[in-house]
Amino acid sequence: MNIAEKTAAELVKEPLLRGDPMSGERYHDHAFMAQEWEAMWTKVWHIGALTAQLENPGDVVTHDIGRESILMTRGEDGVIRAYYNVCPHRGNRLVRVEEAHLPKIVCSYHGWTFDSKGQLRQAQNPEDFPQGNPCGKRNLKEIPCETWGGFVWFNMDPDATSVRDYLGVVADQLAVYDMENMVRVQYMTVEVECNWKVIQDNFNESYHLPTLHTELNSMIEDDYRETVFELYQSGHNRMQMKGGLPAYSAGSQTIQEPLAEIMKEWELDPQDFVDKPREIRLALQQQKRRLGPKRGNVHYDKLSDDQLTDFHHYTLFPNLSLTMSAEGFQILRPQPHPKDPEKCYFDHWFFVPKVPGREEVAYSAAGIGGKLEPAEHDVFKHGEKSAGFVADQDLSIAVGQQLGFHSRAYDDAYLSHQERRVRRFHEVLNDYLAKRRPASTS
Ligand code: FES
Ligand SMILES: [Fe+2]
Repeated sequence: MNIAEKTAAELVKEPLLRGDPMSGERYHDHAFMAQEWEAMWTKVWHIGALTAQLENPGDVVTHDIGRESILMTRGEDGVIRAYYNVCPHRGNRLVRVEEAHLPKIVCSYHGWTFDSKGQLRQAQNPEDFPQGNPCGKRNLKEIPCETWGGFVWFNMDPDATSVRDYLGVVADQLAVYDMENMVRVQYMTVEVECNWKVIQDNFNESYHLPTLHTELNSMIEDDYRETVFELYQSGHNRMQMKGGLPAYSAGSQTIQEPLAEIMKEWELDPQDFVDKPREIRLALQQQKRRLGPKRGNVHYDKLSDDQLTDFHHYTLFPNLSLTMSAEGFQILRPQPHPKDPEKCYFDHWFFVPKVPGREEVAYSAAGIGGKLEPAEHDVFKHGEKSAGFVADQDLSIAVGQQLGFHSRAYDDAYLSHQERRVRRFHEVLNDYLAKRRPASTS
């Protein structure tokens, strides 16, 4: 099957929704949070690191999710493995930094020493254990770990299927973007006072674009009638939005920044399109196709004409959003707080392709600029500084919604058809909580 056939085969048959209510409790109830942990978070694939962070044997990256911490390391044999970041002697957290180079992992409490395969190699006074020498008996607890798309993924479910199976056709669709060859030039994590699902809901709909992100209408068509929404049986979704033209919602169809600047960059004169702004998208596609490879954008070769201007936004169940464009991609990911259902950690990352000779990040819709090199991890609280103007707009609403979910007046959402991915997301979550496979057909 080619990708188009696979995509068609994985689409859900609509109408699909059961209409499960999205009540306020699920955003603040501790019991619901505990259920999510047991039945969902511990059963799905998570991105724990970039493969670029684990280039050499002995490189270690830790990643915290909920109350767990996962340790990933590349072994002498070149294989990347993942373990719970906990000492099997008496439970000490083994590695307390995010990145390190540790050919051996030594517990800071009593010095138990593990190799990169998680085997206990050395323990103090091994003869003093009535149950026998712990070496060979007490190793690190390994969990499924795979690499895909330039990322290291882990899953706490020992019976997990592969990442490839988990992603389904999305993996085929994303392959053209060459994510392995991109550099993370923005690496932010923001603590936000809302449940993680408030943020995921937001990325599951574009109904808010014309009202909350009015600035984007200068170069992204935000009308739902012009947008393709696809819901897959896996619980993942894709939304295809046209870029490189002023949106109908902009009212006047005048050509504004940053579109005018992008046009000039691709040797198009905005004056030539004053009467026909809808044609800019196609003209940009042609210019990018013609000039792109000469400018080092060899990755354009794998992209379709639409992909040269458009934004393909994926929401992957449960908490990953990827906004793909020809100039790079964005990851948006709310992660659960370890204890408080009314807080979460929001990751906002941006990746750009490595282009020979290019040292600065080219323009992106996310407004990212600066040096084309791996960014340091920037962790802060919402409100302390900007997480990017579009994300700031989304987060400001998320905090307000969290407050509203406590109201006696709120009992369910009243959704438009174009927001159906929001309820679908909650229904897939409910399927996990009820321990059944996501419903895929009506
Ligand atoms: S808790 Fe790690 S060696 Fe004792
Ligand atoms: Fe938004």
